[in-house]
Amino acid sequence: MEKWFSKAIITWYQENKRDLPWRHEKDAYKIWLSEIILQQTQVAQGLSYYLKFVNKYPSIKHLAKAPEDEVLKLWQGLGYYSRARNLHASAKMILNTYAGVFPQKHSEIKNLKGVGTYTAAAIASFAYDLPHAVVDGNVYRVLSRVFGIKTPIDSSAAKSKFQDLADQLLDKKNPAIHNQAIMEFGSQFCKPNNPDCNACILNSRCFAFKTKIVSELPIKTKKAKIRKRYFNYLVLADKNKDVLIRKRQAGDIWQGLYEFKLQESEMETSQEQLFESAEFKSIVTSKFGLKYVSKQYKHILSHQHLFAKFYVISVSKKFTKSNKPKLDTNQFTPINLKQLKAFAFPRLTGKFLEDCDLKEIL
Ligand code: ADE
Repeated sequence: MEKWFSKAIITWYQENKRDLPWRHEKDAYKIWLSEIILQQTQVAQGLSYYLKFVNKYPSIKHLAKAPEDEVLKLWQGLGYYSRARNLHASAKMILNTYAGVFPQKHSEIKNLKGVGTYTAAAIASFAYDLPHAVVDGNVYRVLSRVFGIKTPIDSSAAKSKFQDLADQLLDKKNPAIHNQAIMEFGSQFCKPNNPDCNACILNSRCFAFKTKIVSELPIKTKKAKIRKRYFNYLVLADKNKDVLIRKRQAGDIWQGLYEFKLQESEMETSQEQLFESAEFKSIVTSKFGLKYVSKQYKHILSHQHLFAKFYVISVSKKFTKSNKPKLDTNQFTPINLKQLKAFAFPRLTGKFLEDCDLKEIL
């Protein structure tokens, strides 16, 4: 394969790159951390989290020895929390299996929890200069446009087609800079909408530019199916201002984070419907006071739209181990209002807690 592609994007990169802290790093742990953060987060948002994590956990050992709740608390606000759990579990594994030394083989890196083909190639090339080409959304877009590839990027054929081409194009002597360059070029110049093709260094070679189909590439066929979920949170408090919370378990979003009693429905539920429901009546069996009803909060995840309302309810009795509203499991714990801030809640609940001063209301 000709070298023009790699030469052009590297030249562009050297003149236009953003100065980001992980780009000065050869420490595989820090590169790994940055890549996990950037998997589903924009640089602008991820940067402060990267700095917080590096500061609090300067080595794998520091991260491995931290309690999971502390790691999740530091991750709070970034979303997609399985990334944080996998990061923590992998740090422990590296400490136990590799004596705390980050694995140096591509196959070993790829075996880490939460590390897929893209992330393994990124770490292997950035930290160890191994010749593995990265293929992420940016790379799909650049390659499909420059080389006129019309294979839908969400088809099963796309994966190997784009990976093979990226491998052929890779500057094997400079895989780190080549990989940074193609991703940066995709994210900063060859953008999804309205790229400045007239000013592009590749335009004389770009199939999409020459044939005027830039806005049609890359091709995606399937539309992601979006599931709508309605979350009715019951913020149950007693007269001591103790509120019931529990840790979310495996099998759904937000595993390991905390929540109030949640009554979920597939359709929007009115306040009357909620209070008349058998589930609610089985939970709140004695007299209660409705202290506050929040606005509806919308939270968008990649395949789910969540609509949440919070009902702050006070019951006259004091919660004790044996005297709690009858809840579906026994895992709820009364936590005093003052201590709520120490627990990691999903961003959605965090916003409610910022908007609503529970100390005033209860
Ligand atoms: N997104 C994923 N990896 C990145 C990196 N190393 N620099 C900037 N954005 C990224």
